This record gives sequence, structure tokens and C-alpha cells, in this order.
Amino acid sequence: MKLLLNDIEKKFGDKKVLNKASFTFEKGKIYGLLGRNGAGKTTLFNCISEELELDNGSVSLLDENDNIINLDHSKIGYVFSEPILPDFLTGYEFLKFYIDINKDSIENIKSIDEYLKLIKITKEDSYKLIKGYSHGMKNKIQMLCCIITRPPVILLDEPLTSFDVVVALEMKKLLKEMKNDHILIFSTHIMQLAVDLCDELVILNNGTLDKVDKALLSSENLEEKIIELLKENNDA
Ligand SMILES: Nc1ncnc2c1ncn2[C@@H]1O[C@H](COP(=O)(O)OP(=O)(O)OP(=O)(O)O)[C@@H](O)[C@H]1O
Ligand SMILES: [Mg+2]
Repeated sequence: MKLLLNDIEKKFGDKKVLNKASFTFEKGKIYGLLGRNGAGKTTLFNCISEELELDNGSVSLLDENDNIINLDHSKIGYVFSEPILPDFLTGYEFLKFYIDINKDSIENIKSIDEYLKLIKITKEDSYKLIKGYSHGMKNKIQMLCCIITRPPVILLDEPLTSFDVVVALEMKKLLKEMKNDHILIFSTHIMQLAVDLCDELVILNNGTLDKVDKALLSSENLEEKIIELLKENNDA
């Protein structure tokens, strides 16, 4: 399975955020998306997930035989950096609802309690309104939605940043387990996380996507080199 981005263009007013961004993401790898504040990472995710309409270019999902799979919203799981969840439901109620509307597409369905255990939300907290949840708790619930329905493409916009160390470790393990069946792309500003977790690093700079060279990935001063790459084009 592959996710093909072909010459994606997106501008806001006069500002070209994505300028013929092309890339092929493959199943079985975790991709770390790096870029400076305002580079367009969230915009790129919004374009892939069709939250935003493209100005030009295309996004396609191909199966193992390179046949095009219809890319509807059920194929994409998106963990927003600013979680969007119904404040007026409890965590438990929301998960019950989410599982209920997706029950036909969930494999190996577990109980809500088992799912909650996975993200370390206590039973007591699960009966509280989402309105009172911390940013990290909301992110965990969003992440859990991806774990429950397992869409083929999973986009994570700076998700692990808000997790405490115990949950972050748990999520890293889970993502590594999930990667064989999914196309996983996540954006982060934490270099160490990108290096620990990702099989490939992709840089978004000046509206285009570039893969970080394999040789560079194993280099000792990777962090400095990435910082140079991010600086070069922007501050030239
Ligand atoms: N809906 C919008 N309307 C107008 N401009 C927007 C909109 N969304 C994003 N932008 C602009 O597009 C650029 C890219 O923003 P985006 O949020 O994609 O960056 P980012 O790489 O996710 O940054 P960060 O690392 O801070 O999250 C910014 O200049 C931003 O101001
Ligand atoms: Mg962003």
C-alpha cells in the first residue's frame, strides 16, 4: 500500500504554503515529518485528509497491486494537534458512541475498559466530561480512535508531545507494532523522538517535501545537520 502525493499546491491568499509537494509514503514504515513553525505540516495533513481542498495536485492511495483505492474519510485516521472532541460527553460515552458507529469495520473488538487501559485513562476519569480533560488526555482519546478502527493511513500531528513519559513509551511501542499494516506519518519538533521512532525522516521546507538521506540518518550529528537543512532554505 502506498500514499502518493503528486505536486500538491495550497495557498492562503498570496501565501503559497505547499508548492508542488510530492512524496510516496509506504506501508510498513513510520515517517517523521519535520519542518519549522509555519512550514505547512498541519496544512499538509489537512490536505491529505481532505479537511482542506487542494488548489492543485492529487493525493491517491494505492493497494498492493498499485490499484487506486477510493480515499474516503474512513481510510484516514487523523490525530489533530489541537484535539477536537465533544466536550459534552464523558470519555466513556464518546468511546461507546465511536465504537458503535464503527462496529462493522472494527476487527478484534475489545471492551471499552480494555481500550481505556491501553491509554491509561482510569475508570473514574472515563466517567468525567471530556470538557475537563487535559490536552494530553484528549490526544490519547483521539489516538485510541485510530487504534480501535485502524484506518490504513494514520496522520499524527505532534501527538506524543503532550503525553506523559509512561504513555509516550506505550504509544511508541503501539505505533511500532502497528506500522506493518499502516502508512504512519507523524509530525514532531522533538528530534530525539523522530530519530527513535521513525524509519524515514521527511522535511517540509519552502512548500516541498524532501526525504532525509539514509546516510544522514545514521550519522552522529544528525540533529545538527537537520537544523542546518531547516535553516538553509528558510533563512537564505
Ligand atoms: N486556514 C488558514 N488560513 C490562512 N492561513 C493559514 C491557514 N492555515 C494555515 N495558514 C498559514 O499557513 C502556514 C502554514 O501553517 P501550518 O499550520 O500548516 O504550519 P505548521 O508547519 O503546522 O506549523 P507548526 O509547527 O507551528 O504547527 C502558516 O503561515 C499559517 O499562518
Ligand atoms: Mg502544525
